[in-house]
Formats: sequence, C-alpha cells, structure tokens
Amino acid sequence: MVTGLSGRGYNRHMNIPHIAAHLEKSGYIVLPSHLPGDLLTRLTARCQDNDTTRFQTAQIGRGNEKKRVRAIRGDVISWLDEADDTDRAFLSEMERLRAGLNERLYLGLFDYECHYAIYGTGTGYAKHLDVLHGKKNRILSTVLYLNENWQADDGGELDVYEKTGASIIATVTPVSGTMIIFLSEIFPHEVRISNSARRSIAGWFRISGS
Ligand code: OGA
Ligand code: MN
Repeated sequence: MVTGLSGRGYNRHMNIPHIAAHLEKSGYIVLPSHLPGDLLTRLTARCQDNDTTRFQTAQIGRGNEKKRVRAIRGDVISWLDEADDTDRAFLSEMERLRAGLNERLYLGLFDYECHYAIYGTGTGYAKHLDVLHGKKNRILSTVLYLNENWQADDGGELDVYEKTGASIIATVTPVSGTMIIFLSEIFPHEVRISNSARRSIAGWFRISGS
C-alpha cells in the first residue's frame, strides 16, 4: 500500500522509494504510469506549437558555441512557466520527487529545469550525453512522454546505451504517461527519427554551482 499520502497532491501515483531503489541499483528507471491522466491531458494541451511564439528551435551547446543543427537535434522547445497552473502542477510533482530522492540517495539535487519538446516528422536527436560542455551540474535526466495513440511505425523511440555507448540497454516507446529517469553523466542516448509529431517534457535535476 501507498503510505505518506498528504493533501491534494498526486502522491498515490508516484512511488518514490521504488524509484530511488532502481536508480541506486541500475542508474535508470522506466515508469509506465507516473502521473494521473488529467494532468497528462493538461500538459499535452500545453505542448502544442500552434502558438509559434512559445516554441523555439532547440540549440546545441551554450554561449558562443550555440549551434542550430537540425540534423543532430530536431525539436522545438518551450521552458515551463511557474506562472502557468498546469506547468506549476507538474513542477510541484517533480519537486516532491527531488526532495524524496535527496532523502534516500543523498544526491544533493538542488533544482529542476525542464522544457516541453516537439520533434517534427523526420527528426530525432543523435546520440549524446546530457551533461553540458564544461559543466557538471546535471545529475538526473527525466523525460515524460505526451503522445496518445502512438503507433509502432511512428518511430521516435529513445535508445539508452550503456556507459561506453557500445550497446543499447533500453528502448523506450514515447507513449503518453511513460517517464524515464536516468543518471545524466552515465548514459548516452538517442532519439530515433520520428514519423509523426512527438511530444515530451525533458528535464534535469541539478546540483548547484558553476
Ligand atoms: C534530450 C533528450 C530524449 C527524448 O532532450 O536531451 O535526450 O526521448 N530527449 O525525448
Ligand atoms: Mn538527452
């Protein structure tokens, strides 16, 4: 049974001890159903690029090294906004996860940043690590998928590689409600070419500093 229910939150959906145990053991976890359906519906409605002012072409690198390389990374992104009720509901779930993981794993997670992402038809994201060049502040990566009725031939799977990048240890279908959490510095990963618009929220728990 789930313990520790409190207030109006979505606590019954998130089993933090289970997540912590998996992260400790293998460094990643794929959760098929992590958040309630009504929240997923609201997040999906926020992840639409008909409002072209909100979504911007994703870039690679930082500062002077920023590049737009559609062949490497094909998504448009929009950072979540504390002022929006829906975004705030998601951020508060992730805040609870942050606090719960810190209690159990002593990771010293300091904050969480995340953006909506939409990969257009025919795009993906080539194999990479989430640690930004010259920075070491991303500790845990998360991706929540927002695609209802995703079909096998829509592609867009996430391949997660073991540390050396030589072989695939997990392939994740980006179907609505699935969330993957993994150690940012350990696992190279790649988004296969998508044959349909592919929606998600990618985020990172960080430690403080540089
Ligand atoms: C990323 C990323 C994976 C995915 O945004 O850095 O690797 O499945 N996303 O969308
Ligand atoms: Mn990534």
